Amino acid sequence: MENVYNFISVTVSPVLFMLNLACKVQRRLKARPWPLENKVVLITGASSGIGEEIAYEYARHGARIVLAARREQELQRVELKCRELGAKEVLSVPTDVGDEAQVANLIQKTREAFSSQLDALYVNAGLSMGEPFEAFQDLSVFRTLMEVNYFGCISVTHQALPLLKQTPQSRIVVTSSVAGLAGIPSRTGYCATKFAVRGFYEALQSELYDQGVFVTLVYPGAVVTNINATRLGSGPADLDMKGAMTAETCAKLMVKATKQGRKELVMTHKFKLGRMWEGMVPDLWALLVRRGAKKAFKEKSQ
Ligand SMILES: NC(=O)c1ccc[n+]([C@@H]2O[C@H](COP(=O)([O-])OP(=O)(O)OC[C@H]3O[C@@H](n4cnc5c(N)ncnc54)[C@H](OP(=O)(O)O)[C@@H]3O)[C@@H](O)[C@H]2O)c1
Repeated sequence: MENVYNFISVTVSPVLFMLNLACKVQRRLKARPWPLENKVVLITGASSGIGEEIAYEYARHGARIVLAARREQELQRVELKCRELGAKEVLSVPTDVGDEAQVANLIQKTREAFSSQLDALYVNAGLSMGEPFEAFQDLSVFRTLMEVNYFGCISVTHQALPLLKQTPQSRIVVTSSVAGLAGIPSRTGYCATKFAVRGFYEALQSELYDQGVFVTLVYPGAVVTNINATRLGSGPADLDMKGAMTAETCAKLMVKATKQGRKELVMTHKFKLGRMWEGMVPDLWALLVRRGAKKAFKEKSQ
């Protein structure tokens, strides 16, 4: 029966492709125009890596930026550079996204500083891991990952939504990962958070589709940031950053996708194809993912 479904899918695929194109064009027309100048943008995880570079990209275009992360000193460093690059206003609010009260304070400060305007929310703060499941003595790492990568995202989104809904053509942009598209070994807990994020924001995308809030899911592959340094666990395997995308390129692609109001942005060629292959050839796809992961991880413990 599976083969019959595959045959039907391949035969009707040109028609499906054209229908998809029509949906895509309709969405992009609704999202235009969206100049970056003067936009109010809130970025979580702005003290480092991808979030930091997103802030610089908006700063270059004269936006007004709210920076959130836990380390105040790092936020001040990013704030200074944003001002040098041309940001109209910058507000730094030290925030742990896992703490509801701190998130409430972040949104309250944003509301006061920008008269309830919020054009784009980047839910980007995150942590990773890097060991096989059986290496963990208890599940505290799994709970922390869920707290930051999943509840941290939905808590900021929940509190920011009233502002986003009253700002025309606003955006929510979520930094997921290719680990939110495939089960990657040594990343069980991380994958779980990124799959949860995907489920949540795809549902929210549907809820908000006719309400003027564009939700974009972003799935980067390896990006050169500090993520290897903050991996949870006792001897996590680092991601090999040879050939990885720079955080600046990643941020530029994300901002472009935000302007276009895209449904999603998958950043690696392999996973772009994988999105299509997964349903048709699941066993082959799983083999490719396993082999890719072996190449991508530098096993510290070996
Ligand atoms: N680098 C990659 O290869 C890659 C690939 C796919 C997806 N991603 C995703 O990209 C996002 C950004 O990561 P990155 O690669 O840019 O790593 P990074 O350089 O380590 O940045 C992570 C950011 O998250 C913040 N953060 C961590 N825990 C937080 C918390 N509890 N509350 C508030 N902020 C918190 C950190 O700031 P503080 O420490 O100051 O709080 C930092 O600004 C993550 O969601 C990650 O899963 C990364």
